[in-house]
Amino acid sequence: MTKTRWGLLSTANINRHVIPALRASPRGELVAVASRSQATADAYARRWEIPQAFASYQAMLDSGAVDAVYISLPNLYHAEWTIRSLQAGLAVLCEKPFALSLDEVDSVAAAAQASGRPVAEAFMYRHHPQMKLALEWAKSGRLGEVTLVRSTFNFKIDQRTDIRLQPSLGGGSLWDVGVYPISFAQAVLGGPPEEVLGDQWIGDTGVDEGFSGQMCYSGNRVAQISCSFRTPFYTSAEILGTEGRLVLDSPFVPGRDGKPHHVTFYPAGDAPREMPFDELYLYQGEVEDLQDALLHGTPPFISLAETRNHIRTALALYESARTGVVVPL
Ligand SMILES: NC(=O)c1ccc[n+]([C@@H]2O[C@H](COP(=O)([O-])OP(=O)(O)OC[C@H]3O[C@@H](n4cnc5c(N)ncnc54)[C@H](OP(=O)(O)O)[C@@H]3O)[C@@H](O)[C@H]2O)c1
Repeated sequence: MTKTRWGLLSTANINRHVIPALRASPRGELVAVASRSQATADAYARRWEIPQAFASYQAMLDSGAVDAVYISLPNLYHAEWTIRSLQAGLAVLCEKPFALSLDEVDSVAAAAQASGRPVAEAFMYRHHPQMKLALEWAKSGRLGEVTLVRSTFNFKIDQRTDIRLQPSLGGGSLWDVGVYPISFAQAVLGGPPEEVLGDQWIGDTGVDEGFSGQMCYSGNRVAQISCSFRTPFYTSAEILGTEGRLVLDSPFVPGRDGKPHHVTFYPAGDAPREMPFDELYLYQGEVEDLQDALLHGTPPFISLAETRNHIRTALALYESARTGVVVPL
């Protein structure tokens, strides 16, 4: 196999950002889309010029037409369809949050082991040169000892029918965008926290529309995270160390808010230094990474162990917000 034949599992909005990456890769091609109805699949295939359209997700998995799927279903269905895809012998790039329980992550891991196919959580920002620069800088020691990681992801949902507001589909701000700050903290601090404290604001549909959390790591290191569906789009991230501070004005969706393309280093007692990073289409890295795994057998950049820690931490934060007490991991 020299080219990965991709299929889209659903006609979700987010697909429009991933399709250009599938098409830009010389090692990939977009060959199919599956929807819950033939009419929707056909219309989508016409609009995006996709050769094949399937009337059910399973029909595409069983067709033999694709080697890999991109799963952009509501959160509730991520693990189920990841497992079904692996069982059909396909590689999987699945949107965040990858699963809603640790049992689900473990079942995916077992299915991946049995099928021998690669699977990865689609955290596009982790593959971007900006994030690679920030993590390399933080780990190089130039910030001194890292003591605090702070980050936030907010945007406004106007439609009350949005899947993110439905408890029955795995909605909630922590599951939807809080997982970005969680994964950022884990990437900087090297694993799950020792204990967490969470607080949430529940809206009229029954999901958290705002969440804030404190995550305590070994060595007195702390991460503070927040997220919301109630304010205009705003993201930020910073890493504080004993020798300086690193600031990312647009950490998770670089370029989308028109902010400048650099990471800023504020050394202790010296002038700030702006560090540029290479341009890369935001969704390209995750596509290339899964293709590397499928075509060359390299392990996916985001391992299932790392994904498990994201889910474990989110679950602990939700438990803390529910019970009002600190939850150890
Ligand atoms: N990485 C990123 O930048 C990013 C950005 C946005 C969203 N996401 C993630 O991508 C996923 C999809 O988000 P989205 O906003 O694109 O979703 P969306 O537009 O609401 O699409 C979800 C799709 O899932 C399918 N579906 C199956 N069962 C459904 C049900 N019971 N209710 C509604 N839809 C159902 C539908 O496709 P069919 O009708 O074709 O079957 C629908 O088009 C989420 O997990 C989200 O977290 C990631």
